Amino acid sequence: MRMPLALFLLALTVAPVTPAKVSAAEAGPSYEEAVLPLLRGSCVGCHNDAEPESGFSVETFASLRRGGDGQGDTVVPGNPAASVLLQRMESTGDDHMPPMNHPQPSAAEVQHLRDWIAAGAVPPAEDHPLSMGLVVPDLPGSSGPQPVTALAYSPDRSRLAVARGRSLEIAPVGPDGLPVASDADGVVSLGDLPGKVMAVHFASDGQRLVLAGGTPGLSGQAELRDAVSGRLLMAFAGHRDLLYDAELSPDGSLAGDGGLRPHDPALERCRRLAPPGDRRPQRRRLRSRLASRRRHARLSERR
Ligand code: HEC
Repeated sequence: MRMPLALFLLALTVAPVTPAKVSAAEAGPSYEEAVLPLLRGSCVGCHNDAEPESGFSVETFASLRRGGDGQGDTVVPGNPAASVLLQRMESTGDDHMPPMNHPQPSAAEVQHLRDWIAAGAVPPAEDHPLSMGLVVPDLPGSSGPQPVTALAYSPDRSRLAVARGRSLEIAPVGPDGLPVASDADGVVSLGDLPGKVMAVHFASDGQRLVLAGGTPGLSGQAELRDAVSGRLLMAFAGHRDLLYDAELSPDGSLAGDGGLRPHDPALERCRRLAPPGDRRPQRRRLRSRLASRRRHARLSERR
């Protein structure tokens, strides 16, 4: 039993805990099994890190325990009846959660949550954000070459960029118009990109290229890379779904300061991860452009 002594004594006075119950607590339901499915299915849509209603996010165990603006910690380990988390779900008043006109968790899910709290609300082994926990079945991978997901010639047709899933190869093009063999000189191979590459485009000067991609239902990002060395110059991330495309502005002026002109409105919500060097003025300009686009997007959503 890892309950702090003070809490344990409190539990003893509020609801007497017999030795038998203490040992049951140790074998209590896990956070992953008893709590995560409920939070994912019924709560995280409104209580997430990006838009936490009432300051309350259920994305991690830590944020669940931190609680919201109004009520603080939502869990009293060992005491389901005193836990706001459960009180809100069992309330018959206006404060019922999730709000009555939204899908409700099943009675079994609520019971699992109650059991977990009663058993001491044991934290998960690793506290990953809920939105990072996309459950994907473990399928055997194919050993052959991966299918091409995107490709682009440089403007002068001297190089070809070929993306296969999470890898990218930038190769010089031979006289026949085809790329040279992968092990030839001048070929750059990048593996383990942050997600599947959906689009690749060269800047008009052929010196940089922009990639868009990600993992469906989880994350999307765009990257600006040096077209010769493959080096990452800048990354835009933060979108919660695959990014289908991103393009450099055709006049190249935005490409000069690394700005991206997104085709996907979702990119407007992205934030910069790896700014190169000190480019504050451009960064500020980019940020304010993104902010005004975001306002615009909100307005058109409301219409
Ligand atoms: C449709 C959106 C929506 C869903 C889904 C939802 N909530 Fe809420 N929640 C709200 C809003 C809005 C508030 C602020 C108003 C209030 O406190 O009633 C809130 C407030 C809360 C608070 C108070 C936080 C504080 O300290 O101020 C708790 C606790 C809470 N919700 C728990 C839950 C739980 C648990 C679930 C899932 C079983 C859930 N909510 C699902 C919209 C939602």
